[in-house]
Amino acid sequence: MTLEMNIADQPANAVASLPDAQEVTEVQHYTDRLFRFRVTRPRSLRFRSGEFVMIGLLGDNGRPLLRAYSIASPSWDEELEFYSIKVPDGPLTSKLQHIKPGDQIILRPKPVGTLVHDALLPGKRIWFFATGTGIAPFASLLREPETYEKYEKVILAHTCRDVAELKYGEELVAKTLDDPLVGEEAQEKLLYYPTTTRETSDRMGRVTDNLRSGKIFKDLGLSPINAEYDRAMVCGSMGLNLDMKDILEGYGLREGANSEPAEYVIEKAFVGDGI
Ligand code: FAD
Ligand code: A2P
Repeated sequence: MTLEMNIADQPANAVASLPDAQEVTEVQHYTDRLFRFRVTRPRSLRFRSGEFVMIGLLGDNGRPLLRAYSIASPSWDEELEFYSIKVPDGPLTSKLQHIKPGDQIILRPKPVGTLVHDALLPGKRIWFFATGTGIAPFASLLREPETYEKYEKVILAHTCRDVAELKYGEELVAKTLDDPLVGEEAQEKLLYYPTTTRETSDRMGRVTDNLRSGKIFKDLGLSPINAEYDRAMVCGSMGLNLDMKDILEGYGLREGANSEPAEYVIEKAFVGDGI
């Protein structure tokens, strides 16, 4: 039996009978490492833009195989969007990458997370720093009206290995600028700073290096980060998160949490060293 038959036949039917089943409505593949998909939204699910939930399929043993996923759609959207890695031997994503519209996935409707507006003190500029699939929570926050109500400038910095991996972010920014709800404000306030590290492009380099050298401020025409009015959210690999923590704390920003808001918040885009 091929892997595709596994997904199309066995888990889809088996998952459909579970209380937490949701139907896949759309799938788009970007590269052999990345894809996005949309699913129906449980009626009872309320979440704050930036939070994550557990989603998955049935494993070979018939038990739910769940992983944390940031919701990439805003809290007002009728459906839920996710942006996913494909790990070749990954227990979940080696199967999840084969889902098609009409298939069912498991979604536990218990959203949590630290990348939320409530975890930050008021400020003037909000910086979203992401690498790879770490852009997912910011895809939600970028289309959230509260983001533009709270800040005068919204800066999305996204670093990927190559140009093809930036496409999801490019489409997201184009959709945001054209959005009936936030488009007008985004046109005034949103700045987008995509960079690549392994393929030549218009903008290159790790965001951490561009911060340390000051290049990012020069390129965007902005003053350097200042703890008085700058707020930041970070989502990437463990390496990025640790480096960003160091950089932001060097500017005097303190790490916040839901229970104790401060100037920046951080969340792992995945557990592990990368692939
Ligand atoms: P796993 O056994 O989970 O992972 C195998 C290895 O693959 C890991 O050790 C790591 O080295 C690598 N890896 C896993 N996920 C990624 C990734 N996203 N990018 C690069 N390398 C990775 N993943 C998403 O694709 N989209 C999300 O929105 C997302 N949100 C997350 C939010 C949180 C809070 C956490 C903790 C993780 C999130 N993840 C996300 C990672 C996700 O939970 C799974 O690890 C991923 O789906 C791979 O599952 P797997 O079972 O195939 O492999
Ligand atoms: P690099 O190519 O120099 O490793 P990945 O796809 O492996 O998750 O990486 C996504 C992007 O994050 C890559 O461009 C990678 O750059 C970058 N990156 C990885 N680690 C760090 C880090 N510690 N600081 C800044 N950027 C990082």
